[in-house]
Amino acid sequence: MAAAAEGRKQQEARGVRKRKDPPSHGQTIAADEEEQRQPQRQQEEGRKRRRKPKTCFVYGNYKSYYSYRIDRNVKEDPRLALFKREWFEGKDCLDIGCNEGLITISIAKKFFCQSILGIDIDAGLVETAYWNLRKSARMKRGNCTSMEASRIQDSECVNSLNTNADPASNGKPSSSQTSLPVDELLKRVSFRHENFVGSLRECSEKYDTVLCLSVAKWVHLNWGDDGLINMFVKIWRLLRPGGILLLEAQPWSSYKRNQNVSATARAQFKSICLRPHNFRELLLDKVGFRSAEVITDSLSGTVVGFDRPVVMFCK
Ligand SMILES: C[S@@+](CC[C@H](N)C(=O)[O-])C[C@H]1O[C@@H](n2cnc3c(N)ncnc32)[C@H](O)[C@@H]1O
Repeated sequence: MAAAAEGRKQQEARGVRKRKDPPSHGQTIAADEEEQRQPQRQQEEGRKRRRKPKTCFVYGNYKSYYSYRIDRNVKEDPRLALFKREWFEGKDCLDIGCNEGLITISIAKKFFCQSILGIDIDAGLVETAYWNLRKSARMKRGNCTSMEASRIQDSECVNSLNTNADPASNGKPSSSQTSLPVDELLKRVSFRHENFVGSLRECSEKYDTVLCLSVAKWVHLNWGDDGLINMFVKIWRLLRPGGILLLEAQPWSSYKRNQNVSATARAQFKSICLRPHNFRELLLDKVGFRSAEVITDSLSGTVVGFDRPVVMFCK
């Protein structure tokens, strides 16, 4: 016991931190671990002026992810324009790796899900997602109650008032309605802090639509081929028959760029046998999906490097 405590103290003194739960918005990695990756000249310079510890997002748990992912001139996440209302309307949906919840909330608002749950491994991001949900509700309420609103012909606001005034609508959209009313938004959207790569026995919930957008690489780099297969099998089990998976996988070149985010990622990167171009075959032939349809080959309206294909797999 004493020896273990002493060992921990020595590690702390050297600046090595033990990874426990995912850090909120990134992890501070040990300065000496970071140095090993630098060329020698840089290492020497680094030693001279001790650099601040670098924050590393080992799970892709970036803060303000959307501010650098989406082109400045584009108003909404271009992935939303690709998605069809029938994939979400009246459906129970799951967004794996929801980050700050912006896509989750937008999907609920735009496509009238019955429910949508966003889960993320980073507790801080889940908190921010709830904050964004409350903010989104406040903005909608603000729009509708302010004097300004009566003058501004905001169809979203008008439609939401109409729905609220008609109890018979039961939260269902009228044909002209363009966005979910605020009370429904708060009821239908929820977030949960969870590592999705968990036990396969915990698959009692059922969903019609599962989103797995720009998450596969992070699962792959942290839990290897087994973790990735576990994730795909779990998604299949959670889906109802006829349910769909919307998968946006990162290319192998992007794995190469992130292989050094942690010692775990470095080791997993070396042992990975599956490549993103194998995912389709894996999902169809091994996991059991019936069909695959390419929704887009390359997404426009995103910053270079984020123009990834989106594929729909049907159970
Ligand atoms: C690059 S972001 C993508 C965010 C969002 N899906 C999108 O495309 O806009 C990856 C997200 O997946 C989360 N993540 C990574 N591994 C996870 C896991 N095992 N379980 C749950 N979330 C995870 C990260 O915390 C991060 O928020």
